[in-house]
Amino acid sequence: MKCRTCGGKAAVNMRQHKLALCKEHYLEWIPGQVERFIEKYAMFTRQEKILVAVSGGKDSLSLWDILQRLGYQADGLYICLGIDEGIHYSSESQRLTEAFAVANGLKLHVVDIQKEYGQTVPEYAHRTHRGQTKPCSVCGLIKRHEMNRVARDLGYDVLATGHNLDDEAATLFGNTLTWSGDYLLRQGPVLPGTPGLARKVKPLCRLYEREMLAYALLRGIDYIYDECPFAEDATSIYYKELLNRLENDRPGVKLSFYLTFLEARRNGLFADREQVAAELHPCPRCGQPTSSDGLCSFCKMTDRLGAATTVKEG
Ligand code: AMP
Ligand code: FES
Ligand code: ZN
Ligand code: ZN
Repeated sequence: MKCRTCGGKAAVNMRQHKLALCKEHYLEWIPGQVERFIEKYAMFTRQEKILVAVSGGKDSLSLWDILQRLGYQADGLYICLGIDEGIHYSSESQRLTEAFAVANGLKLHVVDIQKEYGQTVPEYAHRTHRGQTKPCSVCGLIKRHEMNRVARDLGYDVLATGHNLDDEAATLFGNTLTWSGDYLLRQGPVLPGTPGLARKVKPLCRLYEREMLAYALLRGIDYIYDECPFAEDATSIYYKELLNRLENDRPGVKLSFYLTFLEARRNGLFADREQVAAELHPCPRCGQPTSSDGLCSFCKMTDRLGAATTVKEG
């Protein structure tokens, strides 16, 4: 297989794009694609301050690397969840994220959930009915809340996460199986900001997980190989496997599933639900938008578990 650009030996072959590239041209092609998506979906400009949520995994570290190479002003945010499970998951991913920041001269904010709120994510999960089996839903709630809080308190214009196409297609697949209109309405490359809440963007949403893996490896990015120990048999992993089987038989189907969804929505597929999104209002304690009458889910949880007095909100 030969590189389409220079005719040299190809390092990556992408059947879904009928495109093979050598290492050098692949490492140029990926940032070029990301730049194209940033502009196409009007994610942010070079004048705006970007906060990248970095987990220490290949996607978010690569995203930070790409944004830096493209000349955007992007600082990092690492949230230490306190997940150990015998493999030092959180401390190891924090170490790798900090090492990346130092090596590249980048600014990293670190939020330690235990220091900030008095308990780790697994402890929180254990103490709420939400986490009877696994801490993932509590974890997601806490991560979202903290990302929003830090972005708002520190004055960032936009919050970027490392979700890739496989993540987005699996989420879409799950939401489609249940026709979850509210989720389908909100899922996409850009979630516009509201007063007090930064815009959220996913610059890698059109890149296959395999493409991000190849980027991280060819760039020599040192990332955490382990998945979160609680995520092993999550439904989303199962959906990803199903979609990979489809993709194997029909290269490109994952991308077209996602893109045709975005197009259908642009054409008004969920127009009658847009009202629902407009009904969010600010949580009386933390100010983040919520659809519930009183406190938002995060504040309800911290309230119930008696950690509210240690909550530091700006
Ligand atoms: P996940 O929900 O683990 O698939 O992660 C999706 C995205 O959320 C990642 O690509 C990161 O941008 C962000 N993220 C996940 N975990 C963390 C964390 N502990 N700290 C900061 N950002 C995170
Ligand atoms: Fe949150 Fe696994 S439970 S990352
Ligand atoms: Zn080449
Ligand atoms: Zn709240």
